[in-house]
Amino acid sequence: MASRVTDCPCMEDLLVSPTWRRQGIGTRLIAVAESHAQLRHFPRIGLAVALDNPDVRRLYERLGYQDAGLGPFVSQWEEADRTGRRVLIEETVIFLVKSLEPEDCAQAD
Ligand SMILES: CC(C)(COP(=O)(O)OP(=O)(O)OC[C@H]1O[C@@H](n2cnc3c(N)ncnc32)[C@H](O)[C@@H]1OP(=O)(O)O)[C@@H](O)C(=O)NCCC(=O)NCCS
Repeated sequence: MASRVTDCPCMEDLLVSPTWRRQGIGTRLIAVAESHAQLRHFPRIGLAVALDNPDVRRLYERLGYQDAGLGPFVSQWEEADRTGRRVLIEETVIFLVKSLEPEDCAQAD
């Protein structure tokens, strides 16, 4: 999906251990990823968020991420379950994008 938004690196698998959530770690991880993208002169950065995950979407929107307008799509990946068996996971997601252009960043702050 990220290939449909030009010059847009995509963050994936953002995860903070439940014990450490709501202490700003996720926000700082995202800020570091944005800095790396800016250093490489990308004009924007994006990520996919599940439609049934409004809490996470609220965090991203607070940080300046907006619906890229690509519509919902199904994201699939494999994970190991507790027994080590590979299982296919599916989520319906939308792609959010944030401008890293200096003038747009100033507006988002
Ligand atoms: C999303 C995640 C990485 C945020 O990490 P974090 O360190 O708690 O983030 P911050 O402390 O910077 O920000 C907290 C915000 O995260 C959001 N959030 C989403 N799910 C959350 C959860 N289960 N617990 C705590 N915060 C959550 C809330 O908007 C919260 O803001 P609020 O306290 O005003 O409600 C973390 O909740 C997580 O690992 N969730 C499970 C995996 C996941 O869904 N990843 C996103 C894939 S797109």
